[in-house]
Amino acid sequence: MRVVVLVSGSGSNLQSLIDDVHAPGDAARIVLVVSSHPGVKALERAEAAGIPTAVVGLDGGERAARDRRLADVVEAADPGLVVLAGWMSILTGDFLDRFPDRVINLHPSLLPSFPGLHAIEQALAWGVRYTGVTVHYAEEVVDGGPPILQEPVAVMYGDDAEALTARIREVEHRLVPEAVRLFAAGRVRRDPSDRRRVQIVPGEGE
Ligand code: GRF
Repeated sequence: MRVVVLVSGSGSNLQSLIDDVHAPGDAARIVLVVSSHPGVKALERAEAAGIPTAVVGLDGGERAARDRRLADVVEAADPGLVVLAGWMSILTGDFLDRFPDRVINLHPSLLPSFPGLHAIEQALAWGVRYTGVTVHYAEEVVDGGPPILQEPVAVMYGDDAEALTARIREVEHRLVPEAVRLFAAGRVRRDPSDRRRVQIVPGEGE
């Protein structure tokens, strides 16, 4: 399965995909990494792995026009799946409608709790005992698409944002490759009669 990854920053989740699903013989192949910003670490990681890169920013322009440009760049890579791995910009229907049910996003909380920015700080401020990680279909409502995989992470007494972020990252780095493997195996199905429901089809022997 051809995968395009959209990034904006450090790209540690991109790295987990490069390490876990991109090797020859693996089910997926990252064919393009697109960044919203030039010069970010994620682009260095892609280049080090020999993956083609592109930068498509807002450039002070209109979001709809950016999304059409972005969709053209992504479509040219002919992806079976588009992964938003730390992509820090809202995507409109001008992008999402071009790849129906093929764009997934990662968020560092158990949605629908703590959508938007600073999810980890929001969880700490609320005092929840559990937060976590969600991989979900990307839709126009920010962090609003149906979950595909979710995993809780316990908040420890005395945690600060740095400590909790480190434990959440560990889970992200497992869940994102797992989601890609499930898509590659054709095991993720969105219920046509209730589009909020996602079925993970059991693998052989499960
Ligand atoms: C991740 O925590 C993701 O949940 C959030 O942005 C972060 C990206 O980290 N949306 P990285 O760029 O993959 O290191």
